[in-house]
Amino acid sequence: MADARKPCVILGSGRPHGRTRDTIRIAFPNDTVEVVALADKVVQQYGFVSADGRDDFLSIVQKMHLANTLIFATPVYWYAMAAPLKAFFDRFFDLLDNEGGRRLKGKSVWLIATGAEPAMPEGFEIPFRRTAEYFQMRYRGEFYFRTGSGPSEAEKAALAKCGASVLMADLSQELKSPDQASFHSTSLPPERAAG
Ligand SMILES: Cc1cc2nc3c(=O)[nH]c(=O)nc-3n(C[C@H](O)[C@H](O)[C@H](O)COP(=O)(O)O)c2cc1C
Repeated sequence: MADARKPCVILGSGRPHGRTRDTIRIAFPNDTVEVVALADKVVQQYGFVSADGRDDFLSIVQKMHLANTLIFATPVYWYAMAAPLKAFFDRFFDLLDNEGGRRLKGKSVWLIATGAEPAMPEGFEIPFRRTAEYFQMRYRGEFYFRTGSGPSEAEKAALAKCGASVLMADLSQELKSPDQASFHSTSLPPERAAG
């Protein structure tokens, strides 16, 4: 059972305990977020019907419904989001014109990406921003972390600071509106958090 209103991290890495997970652990210590590792779940690809027609997609969406803030965390694989997260995004097609999609409205969306190169590829955030907008969620910004030999103390401090800003934004959303329905009547400009 997910903790109601804890920010929900959808971890898109092909490695459930890889560097992106380490990054999340440093940014959000002490169980301040609910982490769903897609690599540990079964999410069928869009258009593929399994023998029993069931997978974990809808149960993950239900966890997203409980949170005010959604954080998509992914490594950069060949200049794009990791395949498990792309497969999950494709399945949002199942949420069109139904309650599952409507209940995403008003949520805050952040992107956390990790990669080996010094900067996130140009345009990497576009699918996240546009998909959020499509479902009338609010895209709040992105953080990029270069992974390598392991984070230095300064990098760990920077990660903790990024995590704290996401948690503060989540808290202020909660204080403004315990009831989601009234929240999205205002529209804040997206923050560009990276850099
Ligand atoms: C298949 C693959 C493709 C990658 N492509 C890129 C890339 O295009 N740009 C980049 O900066 N890093 C790239 N990397 C490095 C990873 O993004 C980086 O090591 C990341 O932190 C790994 O996270 P993970 O342990 O959660 O998979 C790639 C790694 C793999 C395994």
